[in-house]
Amino acid sequence: MSRLYNIAVVGASGAVGEEIFRILEEQNFPVGDILPLASARSVGEEVECCGNIYKIEELTEDVFEGRDIDIAFFSAGGSISEKYAKYAVEAGAVVIDNTSHFRMDPEVPLVVPEVNPQDILAWREKGIIANPNCSTIQMVLALKPLYDLYGGIKRVDVSTYQATSGAGKSGMEELVRQMQEFFAFKLDESEHKAFQHQIALNVIPQVDKPMENGYTKEEMKMTNETTKILGASVPVSATCVRVPVLRSHSEAVTVTFADDIVVDVEQVRLSLNNFEDVEVMDNLEQGIYPMPIIATDSDITYVGRVRKDIFQDNILHMWVVADQIRVGAATNAVRIAKKWIELEDI
Ligand code: A2P
Repeated sequence: MSRLYNIAVVGASGAVGEEIFRILEEQNFPVGDILPLASARSVGEEVECCGNIYKIEELTEDVFEGRDIDIAFFSAGGSISEKYAKYAVEAGAVVIDNTSHFRMDPEVPLVVPEVNPQDILAWREKGIIANPNCSTIQMVLALKPLYDLYGGIKRVDVSTYQATSGAGKSGMEELVRQMQEFFAFKLDESEHKAFQHQIALNVIPQVDKPMENGYTKEEMKMTNETTKILGASVPVSATCVRVPVLRSHSEAVTVTFADDIVVDVEQVRLSLNNFEDVEVMDNLEQGIYPMPIIATDSDITYVGRVRKDIFQDNILHMWVVADQIRVGAATNAVRIAKKWIELEDI
């Protein structure tokens, strides 16, 4: 990393945008200039990064022109990426897109840097690299070492316990507001915007919109993205559930290997622990396992409750927890940017 890079952040006032500034600073990213962008509502608001203060500007079609932006992080929703990513690319930037808009485009690499870093090289096709769905990222980080250990995966069944942060700042604020109203005896069950139902003191078995096959869009993202990232057809059947947690997702993952595999739990733990940015936390006797309160504010994907199925030797169960805003979004995006710089320097 010999030079400095000018960075634009679209969605600078949002939960992921704010975290990107923090991570750039923490990781001593070679930051040159910063261009924070959001809607007209946020113009003039200040953001801090690497010891400097920057004022948010409005995202417009020509805002990237003449700004010499090298890397543009987009985190303001799919429709914004659909409309504006091309202007950043035309102005010479590589776009790292946090939304679902480009993920399944065959000309756009979908990258978790610890899993498929080499795919970044395809960024030139469209000038865009897609950041996977938050639930997919933490799951594939735990699946990849096991895929390598046993030479493939026959199928995956996963149930998620997804935090409100997945719906952005307004999702977290809705949970806090409803809890405050509950304690003030003022909670009105009909008042909800970010989620389909009241989220406080509730569990909602729907994340994102329904699809024709009976799954939700979030569930199908996990299915389709996993195969694209692992570069091999891995059948994933997901049930995605929203829970009243602020910002870390948990997942109960069941992995079925080929019929002749006998799962060795110790070997599984070793493989997971040796994998970059994954840590095993697993001692049921002592009550040690990952939980949202442990993963929040961390860049690690934690795995616990690792056990062989009681009926079938080729089936493994595990519990995977990671900070949705960091591992599931901002950290992965910054890791992509670092890898992109490394690969471009070669
Ligand atoms: P703003 O705060 O000005 O509305 P979150 O995911 O936490 O909800 O954040 C969404 C981010 O996307 C915010 O920074 C928000 O900016 C930004 N955003 C939403 N709509 C637009 C838009 N039309 N143009 C630019 N940025 C937008």
